[in-house]
Amino acid sequence: MPAKKTPKAEIAELSAAIGEHDRRYYLLDEPIISDTEYDRLMKRLKDLEAAHPELIKAESPTRRVAGGVGSDFAPVKHGAPMLSLENAYEEDDIRAWDERVRKNLPPGQSPSYLVEPKIDGLSCALTYVDGSLTRAATRGDGDTGEDVSANARAIRAIPLRLGENAPQRLEVRGEIYLTFSDFEAINTQERRAGREPFVNPRNCAAGSLRQKNPAVTAQRRLRFTAHSYGVWDGADEPRSHAEFLERCRALGLASSPAKRCVDVNAVVSWYADFKEREMPRLPYAVDGLVVKVDDFSQQKRLGFTAKSPRWAVAFKYPAQQATSTVLSVAFSVGRTGTITPVAKVEPVFCAGVTISSVTLHNFEEIARLGLRVGDRVLIERAGEVIPKVVKVVERGKAGSDIAPPTRCPDCSAAVSKDEGFVAFRCDNISCPAQLRRTVEHFASRPAMDISGLGEAAVDQLVAKKIVANVADIYAMTKHQLLDLDLFADKKADNLLEQINESKSKTLDRVLFGLGIRHVGEKTAEVIAGLFSIDEMLRMSAEEFQAAPDIGPVVAKSLHDFFSSPSGRDLIDRLRKSGLAMAKPKRLVAAGAPLAGLSFVFTGELKSCTRQEAEEKVKALGGKASGTVSSKTSYVVAGHAAGSKLKKALSLGVKVLNEDQFQELLP
Ligand code: IVH
Repeated sequence: MPAKKTPKAEIAELSAAIGEHDRRYYLLDEPIISDTEYDRLMKRLKDLEAAHPELIKAESPTRRVAGGVGSDFAPVKHGAPMLSLENAYEEDDIRAWDERVRKNLPPGQSPSYLVEPKIDGLSCALTYVDGSLTRAATRGDGDTGEDVSANARAIRAIPLRLGENAPQRLEVRGEIYLTFSDFEAINTQERRAGREPFVNPRNCAAGSLRQKNPAVTAQRRLRFTAHSYGVWDGADEPRSHAEFLERCRALGLASSPAKRCVDVNAVVSWYADFKEREMPRLPYAVDGLVVKVDDFSQQKRLGFTAKSPRWAVAFKYPAQQATSTVLSVAFSVGRTGTITPVAKVEPVFCAGVTISSVTLHNFEEIARLGLRVGDRVLIERAGEVIPKVVKVVERGKAGSDIAPPTRCPDCSAAVSKDEGFVAFRCDNISCPAQLRRTVEHFASRPAMDISGLGEAAVDQLVAKKIVANVADIYAMTKHQLLDLDLFADKKADNLLEQINESKSKTLDRVLFGLGIRHVGEKTAEVIAGLFSIDEMLRMSAEEFQAAPDIGPVVAKSLHDFFSSPSGRDLIDRLRKSGLAMAKPKRLVAAGAPLAGLSFVFTGELKSCTRQEAEEKVKALGGKASGTVSSKTSYVVAGHAAGSKLKKALSLGVKVLNEDQFQELLP
C-alpha cells in the first residue's frame, strides 16, 4: 500500500497540478480536464489549507482572490512609458514605413520583420520581481496607469510565479482580452441578472479587469498575451523580439503568435492571407497586424518618436462592414430632447458584435442616403464607433418612406425643429425619456459612477415615478427597490451602497453629471477647480466667462442653470442629501513647469500630433484649449496654420513655432 501523503505534500502537488492546468488552458490552449474536475482540485486544496493554514503559500492558487479585496486603482508610474503605435492602413503606408526603417539602418543591413495579430483588448503591464508577480497596471495615459494588481492576481492566465531563470525584474506588457465565446457567456449571465450586456469583448474585458470585487474578475476567464516589455533586469536580456516571445513562453506567459517576414513584400502578402485565412478562425477580436523589426540592436538604433517606436507599426484592417435589411425606424429621445432616428436592422455579426440597430443621425442623413424601410444597406463599424449606414445597396421591393416624427415617441408631446439645426426635439421638459437619459448620464462612470443604475433600472424607477429628478436617487429606500421586479435583496443593498458612496464624488463629477448644456467633462473640471458650489450659485455669466477656456455660450448656460429656481432647488436637495461636492484635488503639483499657462495648437506639427502636444502640456500642469481668446498664453502654430493663428495675431496673443514650444518643455 502506498504511504498516505502528508498534507504538505498533497498541497504542493495540488498547487502544482492546478498551475499546470492553468498553463494548459491559457497558454497551450489544450486543457485536459473539465471545469468540474478543475473545481474539484481547487476545492480539495481549499479544504486542506483551511485545515492547515500554516501551510498556505502566498502563491497558492487559492490566494488569487485572497481576502476579497479588489485593486485600489491607485496611480502607477510606468518604468518606461507605454507608447502607442503608428498606424498604416494601406500597402503604400507600410511600404513607406519599411523605407524609413531601411534608411535609418546602417548601409547593407536589412531588417527581418515579425508580424503579430493586433489583439483588440487593453494593454496591461505586469511586474515580476525575482519571478513573483508584484504589480499589474493599466496603460492609462502611457506614463501613469492604474494599479490593478489584486484583480490581475485573480486572472488564471496570469502566472503568479514565473518559471525557472526568471529575470530579477521584469515588466512585461501585453493585451488582456476575452474570446468571443467567453464574452457571449458573460453577456448571457448579465442579461439573466437583468443587467445591460457589454457591447463588445474589449469593453467587457476592460469592465472585468476594473472590478471592485476580484472574485468577479476571477470568473471572467480573461486572457493575457505578452507582446513587449518595459524592463528586463538581469538573466540575460533577449536580443531579438523572437527570443523575447520564446522566453515568455518558457517562463509561463502566453505570448503573441508571430510570423517571420523576410521583407515588406512578405508582410504585404501576409496581411492579405491573414485576413482571408487566419482571422476568421481566431477565437478573439483582432483589428490588424503589428509589424516589428526583430533584431533588438536594430530596434535600438531606430529608437522612438514622441509617441511611438520607429521599429514597429500597426497595419490595420479597414473598418468592418456588413449588409443587412432595414426592418423599421425607431426614434430615440436624448437627454436634451433631441430625437434621433435609429434603424432597426436584421441582426448581423460585424466587427465582433451582433448589430441590430444602427444610428441614422438625423433626417438630412436619411435624405442623403435616400433610405427607405425595406432597403438592403451596407453597415460599417469602426472600433468603438456606433455602427452607421454607409449606403443603400439594394432598394426594397415593398419599401416605405421614413417620415419625421410629429410627436415625441415617448411622451407624445409636440415636436419642434431646431432653427438652423437638422434635429427634431421634444420640448416637454418633463418628458420621461429625457429624464431617463439624464439619470443615466448622472449615474455614468465619468460622473457619479453608480453602475447599478443602468438602463433597465432607470426605466423602472422613472416609470414608477420613484425618480423624477436626480436628487430623488438619494431618497430611494430599499423597500421601494424591492417593489421593482429587477431588485432582489442583495442587488438592492449593492445599489444603495453605490449611491451612498457616490456622495463623496468631487464637484467636477457632480457638475458634469448634472448635464448642464454645453458643460462637458473638461469644462466641469475647469469650473470645479476654480469655484465652490456656493460661489457658482452667486456668479454672473460674466464671472463664469472670466474663467480660462469658458466662452460666452457655456458661461450663459452655467449662469442660466445656477440662477434658475429648478437648478437651485436641485443643488439644495443634493446638498441636503449629503453630497460632499468637494473641490477636486489638483492633479499636478503647483510647481509644474507650465502651471498657469494655456496653449492652443493649430496647424500640423512635425514631432507629434496635436493631441499628444496637448497631453504633454497637461502633464506639465498647463492647459490646452481648442479656442483662442485673449486669455490664451500661447498659440503654437505648425504647418498650414489657419484661422486660429489669425485670431491670435488679431488679439495680440503670443505665437510660438514648434521649436520654440519644444524649448519651453523641460
Ligand atoms: S507592441 C510601443 N504588439 O496596440 C507599443 N501592441 O497602439 C508596443 N497591441 O497599446 C506594443 N496587440 O496594447 C504590440 N502584438 C501586439 C499588440 C499590441 C495589441 C496594442 C497594445 C498597444 C496598442 C498600440
